Amino acid sequence: MTKALDGIKIIDMTHVQAGPACTQMLGFFGADVIKVELPGAGDVTRGWLRDIEGKDSLYFTMFNGNKRSITLNTKTPDGKEILEKLIKSADILVENFAPGAMDRMGFSWERIHNELNPRLIMASVKGYAEGHANESYKVFENVAQCSGGAAATTGFWDGPPLVSGAALGDSNSGMHLCIGILAALQQRHNTGKGQKVAVAMQEAVLNLARIKLRDQQRLELTGRLDEYPHGELGIPLGDSTPRGGNAGGGGQPGWMLKCKGAWDGSDPDDYVYFTLQANAWDKICTRINKPEWVTDPEYNTFEARRDKQLKIFAYVESLLKNMDKHEVTKWAAEYDIPCGPVMSMKELAYDPSLRKLKTIVEVEHKDRGGKYLTISSPIKFSGMDIDVRPAPLLGEHTDEVLKELGYSDADITRIRGNKAL
Ligand SMILES: CC(C)(COP(=O)(O)OP(=O)(O)OC[C@H]1O[C@@H](n2cnc3c(N)ncnc32)[C@H](O)[C@@H]1OP(=O)(O)O)[C@@H](O)C(=O)NCCC(=O)NCCS
Repeated sequence: MTKALDGIKIIDMTHVQAGPACTQMLGFFGADVIKVELPGAGDVTRGWLRDIEGKDSLYFTMFNGNKRSITLNTKTPDGKEILEKLIKSADILVENFAPGAMDRMGFSWERIHNELNPRLIMASVKGYAEGHANESYKVFENVAQCSGGAAATTGFWDGPPLVSGAALGDSNSGMHLCIGILAALQQRHNTGKGQKVAVAMQEAVLNLARIKLRDQQRLELTGRLDEYPHGELGIPLGDSTPRGGNAGGGGQPGWMLKCKGAWDGSDPDDYVYFTLQANAWDKICTRINKPEWVTDPEYNTFEARRDKQLKIFAYVESLLKNMDKHEVTKWAAEYDIPCGPVMSMKELAYDPSLRKLKTIVEVEHKDRGGKYLTISSPIKFSGMDIDVRPAPLLGEHTDEVLKELGYSDADITRIRGNKAL
């Protein structure tokens, strides 16, 4: 079966997570992704939080599947020549170095576009956008969660800002970049020209915090945020979108409710998220044995429930002492109530459905001595199968790629002697 990006060649000058997540996804879609790494070192994550002494870490292997790796010092004369040849032969270059690093290396966008390959798409992730007051700053995941509005709006009103366990700064920026690259590829079909595609981590986070900017405007316009628990608790909202704890952000009130294991202390993840969807109110009342609330004007509208949501959730929670989260989910689903279990990482790792769907996959690695778990594409296609291949060893494909560029064995030996590989 063919792949969507068959024949597309990508120079992958990425490291850590944001860039690698993007190029791995393009590799899943069939692109030939050639990861360019510093000789002797490689992507810094190869050595981060190692679980096996001296072997590539899970950080590296889980973000660099479906790629080839070459070592190349792009600051040496040979390295520059090879990178030029790569650029002339490629469709896309992806990088997430610190601001200005590509220019310092001698490969500015202007040079790449005007002198080397006008069809090439150059895609970059930076912490802040070009033209932003902080454009020169280096940024990692949690810094971006702070700069993009996620941290200030996550957590409880009486606690500090919180960062999410999901990589809203890194992988999310990589996914935004992936979308931009695919759009630029399509535009190239029409114009024949490549373009620069840029994603700022701050903006990728902000894009996911859109609903919180909605709330900022509602707050300024009306002074109210009815789905937040503040009114019921008598806590002032302040003048900026507050942290809402587990309140539902989308417009349907919701809360995290303890189930059996959390009640008796045997399972810290035994919780469900329970939603008071307005148009499911009648069914909710029946399910929770409060049929009188269907017609009671103190309860039967969103406005009436506004100042007693937490009390309603506490009542529902009191019904869950003898059911685990999966039983509660089924119990709620029988009445079409949107409700779901808090899945632990252990449960997800072994979840039979995710294994069957090939979303969680086991990959054999030639140097780690066994298989590791990784996540395949969450996007499924009817006309393309996704095969997950193991992450490459450092420089595993250097000779192969250089030969494809026309270098002979003798050339490669000479260049290696010059410490460019
Ligand atoms: C992630 C980040 C903070 C890491 O910073 P860092 O470890 O100091 O790494 P840098 O990106 O500054 O790169 C280090 C140097 O290695 C050089 N280098 C990397 N690969 C090289 C290669 N193959 N050959 C020669 N030099 C290379 C770079 O050119 C750079 O040199 P310079 O400082 O002279 O320009 C920074 O890259 C960054 O802010 N990136 C943009 C945002 C981002 O993606 N954040 C992380 C998301 S996971």
